[in-house]
Amino acid sequence: MQKTEVQYFPDLEQGSIAAADQILQLARTAILEKGFFTFVLAGGQTPKLLYKYLSQLPIANQMPWQQCHFFWSDERWVSSSHPDSNFNMAYETLLAKVQIPPQNIHQISTGHVDAASGAEMYEKHLRDFFHSMPQTDADRVSEYISYPDFDMILLGMGADGHTASLFPGSPILEEKNNWVSLVGEGTGSPPVQRITLTLPVLNHARNVIFLVTGPDKKKIVQTIQHEPEKAQKMYPAARVKPTGKLTWIVVEKQ
Ligand code: 6PG
Repeated sequence: MQKTEVQYFPDLEQGSIAAADQILQLARTAILEKGFFTFVLAGGQTPKLLYKYLSQLPIANQMPWQQCHFFWSDERWVSSSHPDSNFNMAYETLLAKVQIPPQNIHQISTGHVDAASGAEMYEKHLRDFFHSMPQTDADRVSEYISYPDFDMILLGMGADGHTASLFPGSPILEEKNNWVSLVGEGTGSPPVQRITLTLPVLNHARNVIFLVTGPDKKKIVQTIQHEPEKAQKMYPAARVKPTGKLTWIVVEKQ
């Protein structure tokens, strides 16, 4: 039975501190259980403060960085030093500030000839990574992993209910096999091509935390809670229903 919790905070400082504490606990639990922690980072603006808190004392000293592996939910097809790059944002606010082995940073590389090969490379990288790591889930001890079980996926949500780069009405919402999809240009800001994890991957996570701000997004969260069928037709974020725990951290202030 999937567990969902909605937590409300008056401002982004308090919401981000709560998220950072929860992520620290999840990292400790995963590392005790199997020796490593897989953490998918969100893009957008909202997580910047959370990343800053993770990179600062007291959390920075408590986080077992050597055993943490970092991934991204999605990426824009821009260079990794571009201001719109999700890798760049997480690198500047968090990854450059703590001691992380470079091989633990699994970015969505945008240095290929085209975005379609970028998406294929990320999927291959993820499959190789999960096949090479020890598995703890009895159902998954097999040659073939249908989907990865990330320990923690952080997500944001747009005002239109999109999450990662899964936009309303996109055919990618129906993806059943691929872990990663290419998103054609024209959606999102700026309207460049994107690469995103797919819904089945989000839905096989052990933990998903959404961090969202403002009254409009709060309204969407309440629709997701109280009118789930209607919400699922309108908002891709409503279709995130992970095997493990789903936590909404809702910040009242924009
Ligand atoms: C991105 C993410 C996107 C983001 C939401 C919320 O922008 O890179 O793909 O899903 O999390 O748009 O963004 P804000 O946190 O900036 O509102």
